[in-house]
Amino acid sequence: MKSELQKARAAYQPKLPKALQGAVVAKEGAPTQSVDNQEEIKALFPNTYGLPVIEFAEGQQDVNSVEPMNVGVILSGGQAPGGHNVISGLYDGVKSINKDSKLYGFLMGPGGLVDHKYIELTSDIIDEYRNTGGFDIIGSGRTKLEEVEQFESGIEILRKLNVKALVIIGGDDSNTNACVLAEYYAAKQYGVQVIGCPKTIDGDLKNEQIETSFGFDTACKTYSELIGNIQRDCNSARKYWHFIKLMGRSASHIALECALQCQPNICLVSEEVEQKNMSLDAIVSQIAKIVADRAKSGNNFGTVLIPEGLIEFVPEIKRLIHQLNDVLATDEAKAVSRENQVDYVKQNLTKENLAVLNSLPEDVALQLALDRDPHGNVQVSLIETEKLLSRMVGRKLDEMKQTGEYNGKFAPQHHFFGYEGRCAAPSNYDADYCYSLGYNASRLIANGKTGYMSIIRNTTAPAAEWIAGGVPITMMMNMEKRSGKMKPVIRKALVELDGAPFKYFAANREQWAKDTCYVYPGPIQYFGPTEVCDQTTRTLKLEQA
Ligand code: FBP
Repeated sequence: MKSELQKARAAYQPKLPKALQGAVVAKEGAPTQSVDNQEEIKALFPNTYGLPVIEFAEGQQDVNSVEPMNVGVILSGGQAPGGHNVISGLYDGVKSINKDSKLYGFLMGPGGLVDHKYIELTSDIIDEYRNTGGFDIIGSGRTKLEEVEQFESGIEILRKLNVKALVIIGGDDSNTNACVLAEYYAAKQYGVQVIGCPKTIDGDLKNEQIETSFGFDTACKTYSELIGNIQRDCNSARKYWHFIKLMGRSASHIALECALQCQPNICLVSEEVEQKNMSLDAIVSQIAKIVADRAKSGNNFGTVLIPEGLIEFVPEIKRLIHQLNDVLATDEAKAVSRENQVDYVKQNLTKENLAVLNSLPEDVALQLALDRDPHGNVQVSLIETEKLLSRMVGRKLDEMKQTGEYNGKFAPQHHFFGYEGRCAAPSNYDADYCYSLGYNASRLIANGKTGYMSIIRNTTAPAAEWIAGGVPITMMMNMEKRSGKMKPVIRKALVELDGAPFKYFAANREQWAKDTCYVYPGPIQYFGPTEVCDQTTRTLKLEQA
């Protein structure tokens, strides 16, 4: 059964940029360079390095090929609103080139390509999923595509299905792997192109060419609705401090965007913590001071937004994680059984790092010392930073009571918002943006491109004026240490402290801390006046202003 909203949303026709509405011509810019380590990246990607940025313009006649072209698609990593629209845009794009073209979806992420698990995406299936949230049309997964055997297994099935190109919808790590795959297939002259699409609610896959990753808009609006509701509750009962952790991995884009939308009393920004070299104690003292100041005006309530990656940026913990990553990457460490791993790790840490590890609550220490995702990242979403901080703030306030600096009541509540927003029905922005990204990918394929990411720019303007094209993935790369080794990876975009979104926040936060300036954004609106339904994020608006 479908909800009334689902039925109404199924009929929504996403908007396309004017340049993609008919025949296109690809305009090539100048050759590009990687953001850093140019010589190393060039040597690793001889076939896909230095390609020009592509921009599509209205053309006379459609793409070179009128032959049917079969395409494969993979959803990789965490869900992000709009993934189904990338696929429906891609489907409509390949069908518009030739109605006999086929789209195959590999199941449950990159693993589906390696294990030859796929379905053909027909119009019946696609129509069921237009403008819906989630990745359930084919499922997603976090298998890391990086081994030659995986690439070779992939080519077997791609050849069998006569697939001309593979579209990988993923974040920075998955697009890094897409680029490695594109290079491998190009070097081997296998004749299969690989195109990436910028997905992640985290908002950290952006640069001069990519304005935003898809899903960030809808996820932030969903969390902001919830935070707004909490703030109204908080302002009504006036008895709780709400500690709200927000997803986003290392980057604080989600927390910052929600702060811009909701004007909470406190929002921590990990990148600032790092820049100011703030210890855990300094962060706790800062929060406690605001709690005490508000208590003086009789306000024993408030909201604190915490980016989930915060802990990684606290200098003493950052140093610890660096050493832990190196220790865990050795073959010797891999051979140690799980129950003995903590002891093993402890024996191999410096005295300073060991002291930091021992000072953390056991659950947090275990998370840091043991679990990594397949890309070697600390699984920050599993660390309960909101509870850690509130516990420490409570202790600090007790001390302040002794000295007469605080005389209030402190009752914390805890929340973690992440999964609540990752599969929300895409906002109009994400529905249009994603459909355009997918449709545009079909044009990159038809124009013979490989190692490119599909890009749509100028998205603060009406959709008709959006600019469509492609950017070589190598352009976004630099060398970074991963699992103990230097590797070529897409550079993650963290919050820039001299950027307009942070500056706006910094200019206002003192007042938001002291006074109660809450904003209640309410739920995403899909139908109604454009100023209610078609707004981009505050981040994008400030960045593009
Ligand atoms: P991606 O980087 O794959 O887009 O993942 C985003 C994210 O939602 C992060 O914000 C979060 O830390 C992580 O996924 C959680 O992973 P999982 O879904 O495996 O629990």
